Amino acid sequence: MYSILKAEKLNENIYLMVVKAPRVAKHCLPGQFLIVKTDEEGERIPLTICDYDRQQETVTIVFQPVGASTEAMTALKAGDSFMDVVGPLGNPSELVTDDVEETKKKKILFVAGGVGTAPVYPQVKWLHEHGIDADVIVGAKTKDLIILEKEMEAVAGNLYITTDDGSYGRSGMVTKVIEDLVAEGKQYDVCVSIGPMIMMKFCCLTTKKFNIPTIVSMNPIMVDGTGMCGACRLSVGDEIKFACVDGPEFDGHLINFDEAMKRQQMYKTEEGRALLRLREGKTHHGGCGNCGGDN
Ligand code: NAD
Ligand code: FES
Repeated sequence: MYSILKAEKLNENIYLMVVKAPRVAKHCLPGQFLIVKTDEEGERIPLTICDYDRQQETVTIVFQPVGASTEAMTALKAGDSFMDVVGPLGNPSELVTDDVEETKKKKILFVAGGVGTAPVYPQVKWLHEHGIDADVIVGAKTKDLIILEKEMEAVAGNLYITTDDGSYGRSGMVTKVIEDLVAEGKQYDVCVSIGPMIMMKFCCLTTKKFNIPTIVSMNPIMVDGTGMCGACRLSVGDEIKFACVDGPEFDGHLINFDEAMKRQQMYKTEEGRALLRLREGKTHHGGCGNCGGDN
C-alpha cells in the first residue's frame, strides 16, 4: 500500500496529493508519469509526476476529476492509501537527458495551460537546479484556476501569468503571450508546451510561425498507460507512435493534433472503439506480449 501523506484541493476542480512511493521517488525524472490504482476494482489512472522528493521517498501528483476513478480519488484524504503506484513510466523529458552544457546555451520557453502547469513544474525546477532559468508562461481561464504560482515563481527565470478573462496577470490565451514576447524582442531556441490538446495545437501553430522547435506532452490521450489499450496511438510525421510507450513528449510540429483529438473522442464510446478496431486493426502496441500489437 502507498500512503497518502497530504491531500489538498488547489481550487474548485484541481487536487494535489503527496504519496509515499519510495521506488518511484528514487528513479523518476521530469516528464515521466506513474499509474495509480485505488483498490482491486479501481481503474489504472496514468498521471504525470508534478514533483518528487528522493529523501522523503514521496511523489506529488496533481489531478482533475474527469471520470469515475478520478472522481473517487477526490474523496481520499491524508492517511488513506493507494493499492498500487506503478512507475516511473514513459521517457523523461529530453531537456533533462540532453547534455546539460548544451542545454545551458539554449533560451527555453515553457507554456503551461491549466492543469498542464503540474507537469511543467518539475522540468523548470530541474533546469533551475542545474543553473538554467527558463521563461514560463502559465495560462488559466480565470485567476482562481491558476495553480503552483509560488512554486513556479521560485524556479522560473521570468514568469508570465495570463488569464483568458484578464482577471489576473496578462489578458488572453497563452498563444497571445508567445506572440507578445516575440514582438517584445524575445528569442527562443525551444518551447515546451503542456496543457489541453487544443492549446498545444495552437501553440504549435504559433511557434511554427517563429521557427521555434516545440515539444508537447501527449499525456491527455492516455487511458491505461501501459501500451495495451491502443488509446494513445498517434501520427508523428509519417510514423505511428504510442504516447505512453514512445512518449509522452513528442515534436509538436510533427503531430497530427486533429487526428489525435478525433481519436480521443471516438475512444470514449464502445461504438467508437469498435470503429477504430475495424479501421486500424489491432490498435494496441502489443505490450501484453501476446498478440504482437500492430506488427
Ligand atoms: P483550460 O481549458 O483552462 O486551458 C488552459 C489554458 O490553455 C487557457 O487558459 C489558455 O491560455 C490555453 N488555451 C486553451 N485553449 C486554447 C486555444 N484554443 N488556443 C490557445 N490557447 C488555448 O485547461 P484545463 O481545463 O486546466 O486543462 C484540462 C486539460 O489539460 C485536460 O484536457 C487534460 O487532459 C490536460 N492536461 C494535459 C497534460 C499534458 O501532459 N499535456 C497534463 C495534465 C492535463
Ligand atoms: Fe493505452 Fe498507451 S495508453 S496504449
